[in-house]
Amino acid sequence: MSPPSSDSRPVIVVTGANSGVGLGICQRLLVQLISKSPTDAQPHYGFHVQQKIDNDVSFNGLTLILACRSRQRGEAARDKLYRLVDEQVRRLEILPGYDGHAETFRKHLTIVVHTVDLSHIQTVFRFADEITKTYPYVSHLICNAGVASFVSINWFLAIKQLATDWVEAVTAPIYYTQEVGQLSQDGLGWVWQCNVFGHYVLFRALESHLAKYKVSTGARVIWMTSHESSPTFYDPADWQLIKSAHSYESSKFQMDLIAHQLDQVSLQTSNELPTRHLIVLPGVAGTNIASALLGTFSSMCMFLSFYLARFLGSPYHLISAFKASISAVHLCLVPLAFLPTVSSAELDDSDPTAPVEVGIRYVSECDRWGRERVGTMKLTRSQEQKKQCDDLLDNCDRLFTAFCEAEGRTVGS
Ligand SMILES: NC(=O)c1ccc[n+]([C@@H]2O[C@H](COP(=O)([O-])OP(=O)(O)OC[C@H]3O[C@@H](n4cnc5c(N)ncnc54)[C@H](OP(=O)(O)O)[C@@H]3O)[C@@H](O)[C@H]2O)c1
Repeated sequence: MSPPSSDSRPVIVVTGANSGVGLGICQRLLVQLISKSPTDAQPHYGFHVQQKIDNDVSFNGLTLILACRSRQRGEAARDKLYRLVDEQVRRLEILPGYDGHAETFRKHLTIVVHTVDLSHIQTVFRFADEITKTYPYVSHLICNAGVASFVSINWFLAIKQLATDWVEAVTAPIYYTQEVGQLSQDGLGWVWQCNVFGHYVLFRALESHLAKYKVSTGARVIWMTSHESSPTFYDPADWQLIKSAHSYESSKFQMDLIAHQLDQVSLQTSNELPTRHLIVLPGVAGTNIASALLGTFSSMCMFLSFYLARFLGSPYHLISAFKASISAVHLCLVPLAFLPTVSSAELDDSDPTAPVEVGIRYVSECDRWGRERVGTMKLTRSQEQKKQCDDLLDNCDRLFTAFCEAEGRTVGS
């Protein structure tokens, strides 16, 4: 791959970039791209398709768009990121044989904050308009922002899950009580809108701008899901997850459904350079997502249990957001030709509930000493879930059209 020219530098949008995994993704992207040969771009994992293609990934600049709901928190993150880059430049330029790449990258680096509140669709449209007017294309959209309406811990369930499988209990806990019936200011299910629909609208509003990225690496949408993604609690009749006591797990399951379906459609309908939709799990990181449940003592206990789980062999307890962001950053940088494809088996008509492997989810993993790597997990679908996905996308499209009309917008613009 030849070094991208100024008109092909990546323009990367990260939602929820001011904290947690989103900030980790930004930090990791910068640390990687400031190096002339970013290790996260290399196809050195067992799941990669081994083939001879030129993989000289090197970017001589970047526009990083922090999509945050608070300008103040976004600007604090932006300042922190610039400080990180400047420290890295100072560290690299004194190394023997330094070739000037870090300074060139810094010169062509722009980090900007644009505000968006995914729970308010009008702001999603305004955000997309600002982006399409200001930048020539978007190369990557990282749908990272996420909420959970955790309100308390059900100690009975917690003790039961901890006693039966305590590593699972600190990886995909089922003992958080979640608020039921919470609505967004648009009157939709709040968790559903923040995690699923807000990102769906953002993708649709930026779709044509993603298609303008004509570099051979192709545009990518990264959907940040979770080990907690589960069809178990999903009731398709409650697709906005308003009545659900497990809206978080169900919203992540819906993101898996949507991302896979959008990827299939894009691969089947794009003549050249389809925009790819990739599913990423960051593993477990200590962030603000469960902060409503935790005081100082319980937070300390949580971190201790994470370290213990990792030491005892859990590959998913990365704990730091920087480490947890490895899969998202890898999926941003690695040439797509190295990613495995799954030739989808026919879904089983005789048993609509039988799961069939249809794709891959990319997972951040680590060894017991915390050395991070990228792994994969199978993505499965049953005939029944395919139907749930089609219905969900129909509902999203109907709502999207209604919001466009209410705003006087052409659908898809
Ligand atoms: N941490 C983990 O172990 C873990 C595991 C699996 C998956 N994940 C996924 O990783 C993603 C990031 O989570 P995190 O753990 O980093 O949580 P976090 O620290 O709470 O960060 C969430 C980010 O999303 C932003 N956000 C929340 N609601 C928003 C809205 N309505 N509009 C725009 N931005 C909004 C937050 O902004 P404010 O700062 O303004 O609140 C924050 O920047 C989520 O999708 C989560 O499901 C995390």
